[in-house]
Amino acid sequence: MKEISLGMARAVILAAGDGKRMNSAKPKVLMNVLFQPMLGWVLDSVEDAGIKHENTAVVVGSNAEQVLDYLEKREGNYPHFFQHERKGTGHAVLQAFTQAEESATAQVKPASGLLQIKQKFPRFAAGGSPDDDVLVLCGDAPFMNSQTIKDAYIQHKKDDNDITVITAKVEPAGNYGRIKRDKNSNRLISIVEMKDCSPAELLINEVNSGAYWFKTERLLWALPQLQNNNKSGEFYLTDTAQLLNQKAGTYTADDSVIVLGANDRRQLRELNELMADKIYDRHYSEGVDIIGHNVIIGKDVKIARDTLIMPNTIIKGKTSIGSGCVIGPDTYIDNCTIHENVVLNSVQAFDSTIENNVKAGPFVHIRPGTVLRKGVKIGDFVEVKNSQIGEGTSLAHLTYIGDSDVGKKVNFGCGCVTANYDGLGKYRTVIGDNAFIGCNTNLIAPVEVGANSTTAAGSTITKNVPDGALAIERGQMNIKENWYKNNLRVRKAEEKKGNA
Ligand code: UD1
Ligand code: CA
Repeated sequence: MKEISLGMARAVILAAGDGKRMNSAKPKVLMNVLFQPMLGWVLDSVEDAGIKHENTAVVVGSNAEQVLDYLEKREGNYPHFFQHERKGTGHAVLQAFTQAEESATAQVKPASGLLQIKQKFPRFAAGGSPDDDVLVLCGDAPFMNSQTIKDAYIQHKKDDNDITVITAKVEPAGNYGRIKRDKNSNRLISIVEMKDCSPAELLINEVNSGAYWFKTERLLWALPQLQNNNKSGEFYLTDTAQLLNQKAGTYTADDSVIVLGANDRRQLRELNELMADKIYDRHYSEGVDIIGHNVIIGKDVKIARDTLIMPNTIIKGKTSIGSGCVIGPDTYIDNCTIHENVVLNSVQAFDSTIENNVKAGPFVHIRPGTVLRKGVKIGDFVEVKNSQIGEGTSLAHLTYIGDSDVGKKVNFGCGCVTANYDGLGKYRTVIGDNAFIGCNTNLIAPVEVGANSTTAAGSTITKNVPDGALAIERGQMNIKENWYKNNLRVRKAEEKKGNA
């Protein structure tokens, strides 16, 4: 297939709906599928197709401030437009072309009193050539993918269409708009919304995905002519198909999941499961094993081949995992860089880097800002926070290391603690290479323990320890001989038994 560029194309994403049936404080487009809002999936697909952020307009309405917050988080600089009243998908699209800072001359006469196109090419639409194209998508259909967008565009250009509707075959066709074709020519006549279908139309199983390519000029010609004399009393974008049916076409997606959306939490769960399966499939192809159940892998996670993911494991954020690792069971990883041959068993790890051959678990918490260098060994009930742990260092049991810089081949005995917080500030602990930190050592930060030095078990280290030294901080040990025999309580007890 020849390479196409969508560098000049524009997109309008409809995200003004409320989604009452989700029963959420969030608008529907911000409901998550695999940890990412549905709107995010759509924006990613548009971006992957090659459409620039500044050419991707988002129409917001219900809970607009939340949607705008999300757009800001993505740092996309997306143009956005308000639809103050929810009057239908056609009305929503119109907002992107009528609200703008820059005005141009109106060239379109509205047919209905309600829709007024004030400017033909406001800022968002300006700069395009006369055959400029615009992609319109629903913000609540997360399975729409960049390949479908591009393939539909190729067809749209090849056939020189005014509108190309992206369709799919779905059985049963549910609530989706039905694609009505001419019996003889098979050409697209119109899209009929489920509510407005005749019994015969209800049986049509080709449906509207809610995504379309339009010649921008023709879309702007059609929009003001929309009427709301239908069952919902809304200005349907779908009616543009009939208005433009002289040069209308369809692109039928190979995979019908592209149409899927969710109206309630049950459907959202189904989307999550479908998406999880799609992601497994990608990893299987890339040579990753996922065994057993309850593995959830986020969209942006990268895993190299011959890594094994075990049950009850969640991997999310911008995590990358090298080859030959065993991750899980019972492991949660968010935003980590994990190198090769790493073994993590019952580990929770966040915003950290884990180098080759590290072994951690079970029951380990690796908190943000941690770097575990090559070959670090971490055993049960250990927490590491915002610390560098040098190559080959071992933290075998029951230990907390926070805000520390630990050298190579350091050995921590059981139960060591860095006291990094004094109630006011956080301080660092520095430990040199090859140091031996005895069991139950408390390191009161800020403090430094030199290379090759030893802290005696049970010591509370408050002063710096020079290289190669032994630091002991303990009360003098006393032995009381014959304590048992002389102990008053013991004597009384013996008397009672008649042994005295
Ligand atoms: C729409 C299509 C239908 C298609 C389906 C695919 C219309 C009339 N119908 O139906 O043919 O099969 O999508 O999912 O277009 N929105 C606004 N403002 C509005 C109304 C909707 O921004 O005034 C947004 C919603 O937030 C949503 C999208 O547009 O992201 C689709 O709206 P929705 O009400 O879900 O339309 P459907 O009934 O699903
Ligand atoms: Ca919908």
